[in-house]
Amino acid sequence: MKLAVINYSGNVGKTTVARHLLAPRIPGCQVVAVESINADDGQRVTIRGRQFAQLQEFLQSIDNVVVDIGASNVEELLKLMRRYQDSQQDFDGYVVPTVPARKQQQDTAATLGELARIGVPPARLRVVFNQVDEDDPFDSTFATLLAYCASTGIARPNAAAVISFNEVYSLVRGTGQSLAELAADSTDYKSLIAQAGKPSDRLALARRLATQRLARGVVPELDACFAALDLQSLLTGAQPVPSS
Ligand SMILES: Nc1ncnc2c1ncn2[C@@H]1O[C@H](COP(=O)(O)OP(=O)(O)OP(=O)(O)O)[C@@H](O)[C@H]1O
Ligand SMILES: [Mg+2]
Repeated sequence: MKLAVINYSGNVGKTTVARHLLAPRIPGCQVVAVESINADDGQRVTIRGRQFAQLQEFLQSIDNVVVDIGASNVEELLKLMRRYQDSQQDFDGYVVPTVPARKQQQDTAATLGELARIGVPPARLRVVFNQVDEDDPFDSTFATLLAYCASTGIARPNAAAVISFNEVYSLVRGTGQSLAELAADSTDYKSLIAQAGKPSDRLALARRLATQRLARGVVPELDACFAALDLQSLLTGAQPVPSS
């Protein structure tokens, strides 16, 4: 399975979705980040044609991959996809995370619209509703995006593809560990804390205990969100789970 995680908006959870939701649940899956790289003169540069050609070659050589496309590269990538006819078909599906903020929902709508324009059909688009506050009513929180999808028919989001706001995502950011790994960590931090002498060691272990507990709490939600995306249907050509 080859998935692109994409949105014109920054900070909607593309990297989080790629690393913690998708890759750990797809056997043998690699994550490739198409991020801006710093050129020698310190300027930010985005993906160029040659790199895109390399990305396309790489996609042909591998079975399971999630490509995390940094916001600053989205425009250029979609332009290149238009130039290299049918290259959008290299991905089985496009996962588009969104968050409650209205501007981000508008950017998400624009992203879905642009993907549709380059020829991605609704059955290959998946929306992940991220940073959701479970106390807020879903339909009014995402009214902007849901109305756009309903009126255009460009995507058929499933309201069960939800990730709640949880501080654990920031805690594990940059550690290189997935939440699934942290949740499966069987270390008994409580007894290690009891044995530790120095307060600083105790504090470090207490942080790991808190992360382990939070990770164990979010894994069932991530499992449910992954199931709701019904990515298997991308490979079989079956219809995705109907929206609710
Ligand atoms: N469900 C969530 N609950 C709480 N924090 C979250 C959640 N999802 C993501 N975050 C946090 O929000 C920030 C942005 O997430 P992330 O880096 O995944 O976004 P991104 O779309 O990849 O951003 P960029 O466009 O900069 O690459 C990070 O600090 C991340 O830890
Ligand atoms: Mg990112």
